[in-house]
Amino acid sequence: MQTQYLNYDQIAAEYNQRYPTSQAWERGQALLELARKLKAKNILEVGSGTGFWLNLLHQVTPHLYGMDFSAGMIEQARNQPAPLKLTQGTAVQIPYQNETFDLIYCVDAIHHFGDHRAFITEAFRVLKPGGALAVIGHDPHSGESNWYIYDYFDTVYETDLVRYPSSGMVKNSMKHSGFVDVEYHDVEHILNIHVGEGVLNDPFIKHSATSQLALLSDKTYSAGIEKIKADLKKPQLNNKQVIFKSDFWVKMFTGIKP
Ligand SMILES: C[S@@+](CC[C@H](N)C(=O)[O-])C[C@H]1O[C@@H](n2cnc3c(N)ncnc32)[C@H](O)[C@@H]1O
Repeated sequence: MQTQYLNYDQIAAEYNQRYPTSQAWERGQALLELARKLKAKNILEVGSGTGFWLNLLHQVTPHLYGMDFSAGMIEQARNQPAPLKLTQGTAVQIPYQNETFDLIYCVDAIHHFGDHRAFITEAFRVLKPGGALAVIGHDPHSGESNWYIYDYFDTVYETDLVRYPSSGMVKNSMKHSGFVDVEYHDVEHILNIHVGEGVLNDPFIKHSATSQLALLSDKTYSAGIEKIKADLKKPQLNNKQVIFKSDFWVKMFTGIKP
């Protein structure tokens, strides 16, 4: 199966719906902690999207750089309150000079970069000695993910297994590029339980909400929705309602450039 790419320009305008202000966003807290520990002055997010995480890091430094492939996502990031230095480019050829940043990170993006090794090598090059790379995201290879989207929408899980590097691959690529103190831990538990028809109001079930569903044709997407509706209609044991779970861990990998 070939890696599939999503043009984020198509979904840029709706993307921020995934960030309700009511949520604590523990991965953001983990990033803040790391930036403070490093006393980071220059920070770069690769695949920075609408700039949600960069805006959070304004508490640590005003020197915030975002790089993204999608012009539409960059336009959205210009609406963040924090002033961000935004550039269009690709993660596998970072358009900055050697030893520029104290912290480089990506969130939910490495599976889009096509060649995660090339990105990690580039990150090593543009980090200052003593700087850190952080890679944040989930790992569908871990076998721990329990996401109803994988069960109901054909090809989504198989496509994710191709798009996402496993935890072992990220760790090995970091070590191979020269990073030391490479480690990873769980930073955020995603746990949303939708009961019965409530699932149809899940913001993540929209066709344009995530790359998982946005990559599907209208036909495959509609077939998944129909499967869900069919299950909702089935008589349930003891009159219980059907439960749809999104239950997985977001991990953070870190490594230091010696
Ligand atoms: C799921 S979004 C994550 C955005 C942001 N990091 C966040 O967590 O909200 C993935 C982002 O990666 C960007 N992207 C995809 N391929 C890229 C590449 N090769 N280089 C840089 N950015 C890329 C997309 O345009 C998109 O904005």
